[in-house]
Amino acid sequence: MRIFATYNIKGGVGKTAAAVNLSHLAARDGHRVLLWDLDPQGAASFLFRIKPRVKGGGKALIRGTRSVGAAIKGTDYDGLDLLPADFTYRNLDLLLDSAKRPERRLASLLTPLKAEYDVIFLDCPPSISLLSESVLHAAGLLLVPLIPTTLSVRTLDQLTEFVAGFAGHRPDVLAFFSMIDRRKRLHTSIAAELPVARSDFASTAIGALSVIEQMSVHRAPVTAFAPRSVAARQYGELWQEASARAGLTG
Ligand SMILES: Nc1ncnc2c1ncn2[C@@H]1O[C@H](COP(=O)(O)OP(=O)(O)OP(=O)(O)O)[C@@H](O)[C@H]1O
Ligand SMILES: [Mg+2]
Repeated sequence: MRIFATYNIKGGVGKTAAAVNLSHLAARDGHRVLLWDLDPQGAASFLFRIKPRVKGGGKALIRGTRSVGAAIKGTDYDGLDLLPADFTYRNLDLLLDSAKRPERRLASLLTPLKAEYDVIFLDCPPSISLLSESVLHAAGLLLVPLIPTTLSVRTLDQLTEFVAGFAGHRPDVLAFFSMIDRRKRLHTSIAAELPVARSDFASTAIGALSVIEQMSVHRAPVTAFAPRSVAARQYGELWQEASARAGLTG
């Protein structure tokens, strides 16, 4: 089982868009995939037309009184399941704080799913918190969308340093540029240079494309409703890079 997490401390950078499209592509590759929408805002659940509700809320899951497996829903796509968001996830930090070894809690909640899923995606809310720490410990590969500015690269360096300080398991990090505007010279120059200079940058970048915004109208992955679009092709290339990086085959 490979665990991917879309993560950035910043909001609105394309974490959920990536989690939704890449999980769809992973399932299309024949993997058994679960996406856990960890954001109380429930954007990924909305995009998969699933009610953002978990019986007993985040508390029941974190405390283990309700198994994670029991909360899972099927999506409209073969091989792709969703663990929905719940508004109580806004308190996940507090709940984790009262758990034993909070930074390991998410990983241990996912362990029983090993037999059922090949790939798990964790779609994180924008924060740096106990929850995100627990996500970083559970994930094998962090996918970090960045808007191409010099400051965003600093954010990535801070994240990499933070992860390097972990004892034991450290996730691999793959950053990618998100919402690239080809008309902005700064965007194109940063996006052209960094993937060459640094191995933690994917060579695929996702453009600022209106078809991606339309996901919330269609309530579907762009890779499903516009499979021949530039956006779908870019997510396809990103998935190839990410899955190869994580050592997933076919
Ligand atoms: N490449 C893109 N081009 C154009 N619009 C995009 C792109 N990626 C995401 N968007 C749009 O930008 C908004 C934010 O995207 P998304 O929800 O994926 O970001 P996020 O990082 O998950 O945000 P949050 O931090 O709130 O969870 C959404 O309305 C989405 O449709
Ligand atoms: Mg999001």
